[in-house]
Amino acid sequence: MDVIKAIRERRSIRKYKSKEVSEESLSIILQAGRWAPSSANKQPWHFIVVRDPNLRGRLADAHAHGRFMKESPAVIVVLGDPQKDPRYCLADPHNAVQNMLLAAYNLGISTCWMGVRDTAIEPAFRKILKIPDELRVICSVAVGYGDEERTSSRYPLDEIVSWETFGNKSK
Ligand SMILES: Cc1cc2nc3c(=O)[nH]c(=O)nc-3n(C[C@H](O)[C@H](O)[C@H](O)COP(=O)(O)O)c2cc1C
Repeated sequence: MDVIKAIRERRSIRKYKSKEVSEESLSIILQAGRWAPSSANKQPWHFIVVRDPNLRGRLADAHAHGRFMKESPAVIVVLGDPQKDPRYCLADPHNAVQNMLLAAYNLGISTCWMGVRDTAIEPAFRKILKIPDELRVICSVAVGYGDEERTSSRYPLDEIVSWETFGNKSK
């Protein structure tokens, strides 16, 4: 699939079919995360793939805006590793997440990104998944075959782009 098409058409999906996601597809998605850019190539991330329904249920109960983790057959929890990069361990994992969303979309698999870091959910996730204290819980991503259609919108380019200097709209 054309990368621009995937960027444009991917949507956050919050309703899932029970159909499993194959290990091969999960591997392609994780590889896409692995190949994301990071500052000085330090790759300060770790991914936990959660397929166990009991664990997914507990994550869903802990996340008021992520109840659908109960239904999505897989959840990827994304961690930041301050030991690998204290400065970019919170930012760089997001690069990996975006790659994974697009790779999943390319396979016909839906996703939804759920923020976790700097919320009360972070210690809850840490406890449920036995995550060591030194790692940060950045977010979780529901992964599965979608059971809904979604639309979305963005600010127009004119509103969010300046040319040469801030606020200059003439090209
Ligand atoms: C940092 C971040 C946190 C998010 N947290 C949640 C969340 O907790 N629950 C949820 O349903 N969607 C969450 N989303 C998805 C956004 O709501 C979604 O990307 C946005 O509304 C645009 O919709 P689209 O992804 O379909 O284009 C999050 C997205 C990001 C980038």
